[in-house]
Amino acid sequence: MIEPITENIYWVGVIDWNIRDFHGYKTRRGTTYNAYLILDEKTTLVDTVKSKFSDGLLANICKITSLEKINYIIINHVEMDHSSSLPKIAKQAKNATIITSKKGKEAIIKHYGDTFNIKTVKTGDKLSLGKRTIQFLEAPMLHWPDSMFTYLVEDKILMPNDAFGQHLATTQRFDDQVNQHVLMEEAATYYANILTPFAPLITRKIQQIKQLGIAPEVIAPSHGVIWRSNPTKIVKAYLDWSEGKTKNKVVIVYDTMWQSTDKMARAILEGIASEGVDVRLLKLRSAELTEVVTEVLEAKAVVVGSPTLNNQMFHTISAFLTHITGLNPRGKKWFFFGSFGWGGGAVKSMVEATRKAGFAVQEPTLEINYVPDKEEIKKCFEFGKKIAAEIRG
Ligand code: FEO
Repeated sequence: MIEPITENIYWVGVIDWNIRDFHGYKTRRGTTYNAYLILDEKTTLVDTVKSKFSDGLLANICKITSLEKINYIIINHVEMDHSSSLPKIAKQAKNATIITSKKGKEAIIKHYGDTFNIKTVKTGDKLSLGKRTIQFLEAPMLHWPDSMFTYLVEDKILMPNDAFGQHLATTQRFDDQVNQHVLMEEAATYYANILTPFAPLITRKIQQIKQLGIAPEVIAPSHGVIWRSNPTKIVKAYLDWSEGKTKNKVVIVYDTMWQSTDKMARAILEGIASEGVDVRLLKLRSAELTEVVTEVLEAKAVVVGSPTLNNQMFHTISAFLTHITGLNPRGKKWFFFGSFGWGGGAVKSMVEATRKAGFAVQEPTLEINYVPDKEEIKKCFEFGKKIAAEIRG
């Protein structure tokens, strides 16, 4: 028997305990694919799950009702972790109409063929299920062009798919049942790694939700737990992150070959810490990019260090800069340092790559030949002190 999350609304999703790599995003705590079943005069399924887990979804639905009784399948987002069970479900839910956005329809056809009975909806459209009304809100580029939010008007439940989600595998269904630090850490990791590029759209979407009079008491995302105890907590966090709010925190991201850049990084760290500023040290061949990106989210400054290899930056630094310039976090100061044996080039290539992306590159940079000596270590320490002074204004 599956317990409803509220009267006649059931979580019928699945838990993916073992996933650790979600298209490059390292999901150290696994994830869930949430789908919801609403029983009313019209039985409605909101979203599906990754196809590998379709039997789990079918089994959960069948504990509550039969697939023939499903009238609507709402597809809020066509990315395959939420839609790839659709062909299997739709085959058995013969009476179901698929409800999605216009872009959702195009994406469904491109992914699974033109074999479905699809009705498209747009912002403001409503659908009566009997006692309940559903209101739709398009959310293009949050985070795909097809993305859409579903709002249960009478229950005041918002089902925004990926937005407000967390990659967190748990048998608990609600925010108040899990460790709060872990919850916010995974919510921040999700935001940092998936939603950062869309920050201005997020701010506007939250404003639009308010303007439409939508005041959810429950937010039920498609990954992780449901926000029922304090949904404003995650909305406030999203506003802060999307507005680029930062803390007095510096992140040093570096790699090293023969420990010269490592020695520099540690001396810079000591200089920053000596000014009482929170500073983290992340070596790229030890820390996952997912973790590094999350640490950058609330940092005021990022200090990137690289050895020179073949006249340019080290390849792990290049991968980091490619990823972070794509994510384009706002409002940060970027500092660069590095070491070289003969010709140099690491710092120059890092500065060029980040300037091109419009990042706020800070001068001067710091470069050391071969192994830093006592005087040069002192220079690194002073470099750190200057960084601390810069971010404290
Ligand atoms: Fe959870 Fe954009 O898919």
